[in-house]
Amino acid sequence: MDVENFYNLISSNYTEMLARLVPRYREMLWMILTYIPKDLHPNRIVDLGCGTGNLSKGILNQYPQAEVLAVDLSASILDEASKRLSNYTTISYINQDFNHLDFEENSIDLVVSSIALHHLTDLQKEKLLKKIYRWLSPKGVLIFGDQFSGSTSDRYEQHMENWKLTSEGKNVPESEWALWMEHQKNHDYHTSVENYFNWCKQIGYKNSDVVWRYYLWTVFIAHKTQ
Ligand SMILES: C[S@@+](CC[C@H](N)C(=O)[O-])C[C@H]1O[C@@H](n2cnc3c(N)ncnc32)[C@H](O)[C@@H]1O
Repeated sequence: MDVENFYNLISSNYTEMLARLVPRYREMLWMILTYIPKDLHPNRIVDLGCGTGNLSKGILNQYPQAEVLAVDLSASILDEASKRLSNYTTISYINQDFNHLDFEENSIDLVVSSIALHHLTDLQKEKLLKKIYRWLSPKGVLIFGDQFSGSTSDRYEQHMENWKLTSEGKNVPESEWALWMEHQKNHDYHTSVENYFNWCKQIGYKNSDVVWRYYLWTVFIAHKTQ
């Protein structure tokens, strides 16, 4: 099953599933919101891979005046998001693959994302980072939480083991864990933080940093300029 159909299939119980499967998920979202620079007053924000809109909702509450563009490959999951966020009038939905997405140069003040960019291969990630750099306005910021590997394969294995233990402790059904692992094996491309630092440096981003981490989940920030 490809990524689009996987998310179409699980869209109706996706929000609960994610809360069970991703340890400290809410904390990660909160860290994304918290580390957006206080002096950035974004008018136009993109949420890449918005899913059912958990991060978009936080963004809409934090920036009620801003226009939010929520992008996702799955039409069903966007339907779910628009139902959940029907009270908000400043959000619009774009059913598009990141690989084909484009915006005008300097037209976006803030790009956010939560657990979505790991669906891209390293080459695709680097290409997207270049496009985001072009879209961002001069004071613009990219901040996202995602699943990363480790700086060594041993560390990556430790992250995976710890994740499994935590899931068992939370009584995640074995069938759900198996479904998630099957999807991960076929469609997820976890990369290291070092790779992101290198790509960002080469592209020209400034002040790249990791502001939070728990097992695989990491919040990464990069500014277009100082
Ligand atoms: C694990 S979910 C995270 C959703 C949401 N950000 C959250 O925190 O709940 C990943 C989302 O990324 C979307 N996605 C995966 N690959 C994509 C791509 N190439 N282009 C656009 N969206 C994609 C999926 O459809 C899915 O909704």
